[in-house]
Amino acid sequence: MRFRYELEGGNFSRAGYASSEIKKTLKQLSVDPKIIKRIVVALYEAEVNVVAHAWRGEVLAEVDAEKITIRLKDEGPGIPDIPLAMQEGYSTASEAVREMGFGAGMGLPNMKKNVDELTVESQVGIGTEVYMLTRFS
Ligand SMILES: Nc1ncnc2c1ncn2[C@@H]1O[C@H](COP(=O)(O)OP(=O)(O)OP(=O)(O)O)[C@@H](O)[C@H]1O
Ligand SMILES: [Mg+2]
Repeated sequence: MRFRYELEGGNFSRAGYASSEIKKTLKQLSVDPKIIKRIVVALYEAEVNVVAHAWRGEVLAEVDAEKITIRLKDEGPGIPDIPLAMQEGYSTASEAVREMGFGAGMGLPNMKKNVDELTVESQVGIGTEVYMLTRFS
């Protein structure tokens, strides 16, 4: 099964849509609720990152009997130093984004903790691609 969702920079009301839809699908497939929770946390953080830091993006998810792979591709400023961005507490979030309760610099570390594989690739001035894989057992 494949799913595709769009994200728009600044549109925080839309962040969380992909993660809630994926949650429903995984529940229907009787995936372990603990594993679903981890996937939803990671995807939500990834969605918010596109909305908070990029101009637009898409979520591409693929689910089979054993695993889910999720790719988020965005057009945006990119991440100049990925190891730095992965550190807890590192954030370039704007004042407006912080006022909405984001910008603790915990999103990428949380994603890393909650999935089996995480890859972040980025080109400055072009965009970022996040890949996450989680096995169901
Ligand atoms: N899709 C993206 N495009 C551009 N920069 C990004 C993207 N995702 C993350 N970053 C950069 O990496 C930093 C760290 O991201 P992370 O998700 O860990 O924290 P945050 O989004 O700033 O705050 P939090 O997730 O805790 O609300 C961001 O502040 C930003 O500089
Ligand atoms: Mg974040």
